[in-house]
Amino acid sequence: MYFSSEQILDDLRDLGINSGDKLLVHTSLSKVGMVDRGPRGFVESILKAVGQEGLAVFPTFTGTSKDSKENPPYFDVLETPAWTGKVPEAARALKEAIRSLHPTHSVAAIGKGAEELTTGHECVDTPCGEGSPFVLLAKNKGKILLVGVDHNSNTTFHTAEEYAKCPFHMLDEPALATIVDYKKEKRHITVKLHRWGTERNFNLLEDEFIGQRIEKIGKIGKAKCRLIEAAPMLEIIISYLDKDPYYLVVKG
Ligand SMILES: CC(C)(COP(=O)(O)OP(=O)(O)OC[C@H]1O[C@@H](n2cnc3c(N)ncnc32)[C@H](O)[C@@H]1OP(=O)(O)O)[C@@H](O)C(=O)NCCC(=O)NCCS
Repeated sequence: MYFSSEQILDDLRDLGINSGDKLLVHTSLSKVGMVDRGPRGFVESILKAVGQEGLAVFPTFTGTSKDSKENPPYFDVLETPAWTGKVPEAARALKEAIRSLHPTHSVAAIGKGAEELTTGHECVDTPCGEGSPFVLLAKNKGKILLVGVDHNSNTTFHTAEEYAKCPFHMLDEPALATIVDYKKEKRHITVKLHRWGTERNFNLLEDEFIGQRIEKIGKIGKAKCRLIEAAPMLEIIISYLDKDPYYLVVKG
């Protein structure tokens, strides 16, 4: 059985997504089930849900655990595929999508404010920190939609780690990354890189988000989904990490 675009749209509405919403969407489409017209159909339902006045943002990440000063990232905005799934890949292929130029943590944004959200991402101090699309979305009353994935896929937790300067989160040495932009022009920029390998449990704070009524749980197709208000979520995470930067690190 295939879920139609109308069924997906109804589920998005039931979850509380309205026209004009600004959404950052993390997805595992296989958890939803088979969807009419596949990943592209799913993206179109999201765009319909937020409407002309809304904004949909998809993580199109390319950074890997192999990135380092010795092995710097190479990022071509048109060519480098994302590892974050077929939905972000379908989103960035749409002609109206604008992909930011960050060499490890780019996003593809579609809708009102897409340009403001993505411009200059490659120049921020840390990939998810001040000035990044993750922060700009939160500052603009944005919401995070987790489709078939839990908070361990919620990148905005890294924003909080970057604000709280968690000592395990970034590599000590930056790298000189290569970026190829939309005009096929090549640039070299210095980037700070995520340090991989420290296991965290971002789900530890979920009960608090629900208790504070900033997270709603629902279903899209067959997938368990979460809709969270980004700004108050960030405030809560930072308050924990300011007290104990290792609070979310899995012990032992
Ligand atoms: C890695 C990850 C993307 C894999 O998820 P997944 O569900 O296996 O794969 P995708 O989301 O790419 O979706 C592909 C699936 O869409 C499903 N699908 C639904 N309708 C379909 C259709 N009409 N045609 C084809 N496939 C369809 C299929 O099950 C397909 O799986 P298959 O290619 O193995 O057959 C997911 O586990 C994940 O981590 N998502 C979050 C990523 C993220 O944002 N991370 C941030 C980290 S800080």
